[in-house]
Amino acid sequence: MGLFSFLLLMSQDTQKLSVTMKSVTVNFMLDENGKPAYDVSYGSKQIIRPSHMGFVLSDQDTFDAGFVLLGSEKNSHDETWNPVWGEVHSIRDHYEQLIVHLKQKTSNRLLDIIFRVFEDGIGFRYYFPVQAFLKYFIVTNEETQFRLAGDHKAFWIPGDFDTNEYPYTVSNISEVDNKNMVDISTAIAVRVAPDRYAVQTPLMMKTADGLYINIHEAALLHYPAMQLHVDRATYELTSSLVPDAFGNKAYLHAPFATPWRTIIVSDKATDILSSRIILNLNAPNVIGDTSWIRPMKFVGVWWEMQTGKSGWNYSDYPDSTDAAGNLLPNHRHGANTANVKKYIDFAAANGIQGVLVEGWDIGWEDWFGNWKENVFDFVTPYPDFDVNALQAYAASKGVQLIMHNETSGSATNYERQMDTAFRFMVSHGYHSVKTGYVGRIIPRGEHHDGQWMVDHYQRVAEKAAYYHVMLDAHEPVRPTGLQRTYPNWMACEAARGNEYNAFSNGNTPEHETILPFTRLMGGPMDYTPGIFKLTHYSSDTSRRIHSTLAKQLALYITIYSPIQMVADLPENYEAHMDAFQFIRDVPVDWDDTKILAAEPGDYIAIARKQKASDNWFIGVITDEHKRDITADLSFLDKGKKYMATIYGDAETADWQQNPEAYTIHKIMVDHTSHLLLRLASGGGAAVSIIPVKSAPSK
Ligand code: NOJ
Ligand code: CA
Repeated sequence: MGLFSFLLLMSQDTQKLSVTMKSVTVNFMLDENGKPAYDVSYGSKQIIRPSHMGFVLSDQDTFDAGFVLLGSEKNSHDETWNPVWGEVHSIRDHYEQLIVHLKQKTSNRLLDIIFRVFEDGIGFRYYFPVQAFLKYFIVTNEETQFRLAGDHKAFWIPGDFDTNEYPYTVSNISEVDNKNMVDISTAIAVRVAPDRYAVQTPLMMKTADGLYINIHEAALLHYPAMQLHVDRATYELTSSLVPDAFGNKAYLHAPFATPWRTIIVSDKATDILSSRIILNLNAPNVIGDTSWIRPMKFVGVWWEMQTGKSGWNYSDYPDSTDAAGNLLPNHRHGANTANVKKYIDFAAANGIQGVLVEGWDIGWEDWFGNWKENVFDFVTPYPDFDVNALQAYAASKGVQLIMHNETSGSATNYERQMDTAFRFMVSHGYHSVKTGYVGRIIPRGEHHDGQWMVDHYQRVAEKAAYYHVMLDAHEPVRPTGLQRTYPNWMACEAARGNEYNAFSNGNTPEHETILPFTRLMGGPMDYTPGIFKLTHYSSDTSRRIHSTLAKQLALYITIYSPIQMVADLPENYEAHMDAFQFIRDVPVDWDDTKILAAEPGDYIAIARKQKASDNWFIGVITDEHKRDITADLSFLDKGKKYMATIYGDAETADWQQNPEAYTIHKIMVDHTSHLLLRLASGGGAAVSIIPVKSAPSK
């Protein structure tokens, strides 16, 4: 099917099936075989060439050709809404919409396609209306194409059905091949990537002529995650859905709307980071009252386990018991009452609201690697963890304990225990839970990113909302903006976090400059920033954090999350209380965000205004290259004076040679100021900018 026949059809068509907002245009077409297709332009440049749309349903039943256009509708939408928490106080949802109503002539089956065009990109979704000849059906394949206009530079991870915890590869589209990365990534618990030419979304790209293009999806519910199969010769990407145990993709019942496929585009990298398309394409809050939801920072009995100082398990083996059947302690158990109290004391002394405790419940002796169904019961503490005493102690200090429910991938077990687990949280004063899905999924044969698990994560978010519990899911499918619909779903991991620096070769210095353009496009990440002891934190002395200390501070701004871990051990913070002041001060909920400068793989500079306050905070990070970045403070209120405290890399700092060298200095600023921030290799800078009542003139 050549471009010529598309053009022919368009000119024959009396309706102009084309929608534009500012520089972005989408055209809808049917070719001479009745195949639906679309293209996308940015200004005069076509960024998605005519690309087919459609499905294969069960038994090779094609639902991608032989369509006629029954009609179409267009409308405009312009509304502003306020997120419960987030990067900004209000979000404008402004788009032009085109709905096309199609009928497959031979089968009399109906399909709608809904396009929304925003000033910074587009979204489209398929809708199966209620109809006579398509009621219950199975999706064997979705055949959405994204035919790129060139061999773009891409920032990608392998299209794996079970994990997003890979380092990013930067290559041209024509060079995508994930096999070696999958093979060497042995630190990732489960890797299933049968298509070596498939990548995950969000896929970030840069064209040779300087356009930035991001492809992802929004509102992933009751459907598998979309990966992209790459044709390296033609630069065509095709949707590839994560299968279930039988190889099917989705079990649907009309009416049904698929997730939105999103294409964000701009000639400025900073616009990609400030795009709200994905949030706007998600449904508003469905959980009702949200007054109980509170963004927060938290410490945790966690890094000490990740680095091997203590363990999650109370005994070495499940059968290490005395004659009466009681587990014998290995004396390395981190979640013991005395140790947890130390973290509570530290949190209370530093204004940190939460304390996560992992390894508090029985089951950790053989939790991993056995594909075992009944691993945890989520309610029985180890004998040295006194739930009631710790809750009382935490409450007396104004601190909350955060529940940990590791499922080890056994979602069936968690579903059976979920009500019990959440009732336990409510009766013991827990208001948030971190879940986890390390290992192969049960039901056996399902994948982390398939339809069954997508439903599971939603059920957990709904259950948590019912019990007024905030959720942070580790190892789930990557987010698609559902935090708008479920505002208690605060964050997910679903990418390679700081923890990889503890137990593997870690993350490269450029990793955190790519995350905002990829994983974070869908929603907040529990990255666990704030490591201060950057070497010699593990018995393996070759391990190091690929960062300077100042960069760890900047991550609190550049990696947005309404829950941020203060991840290092209290004693490592106590060694640098002056730098720790930034972590004490930095909030996790914002009224405004300005992306000051950004280039994927190189650097990120972001300023954010604290919610209901005049305080601003800036985070700037670089990759392995040292660089200077000048922050223009023209966003500050005119006529106000502020005290800026700059936490920067010392002149001699360098992530490899001298990572913990930082400087702190204060300077008076106003809206005319420019701050020159000098970043070391692998470095960063964090700045707090606080209004002063009366200030000496400059
Ligand atoms: C992997 C999670 O990412 C990590 O944070 C957690 O400590 C372990 N699983 C154990 O649940
Ligand atoms: Ca993980």
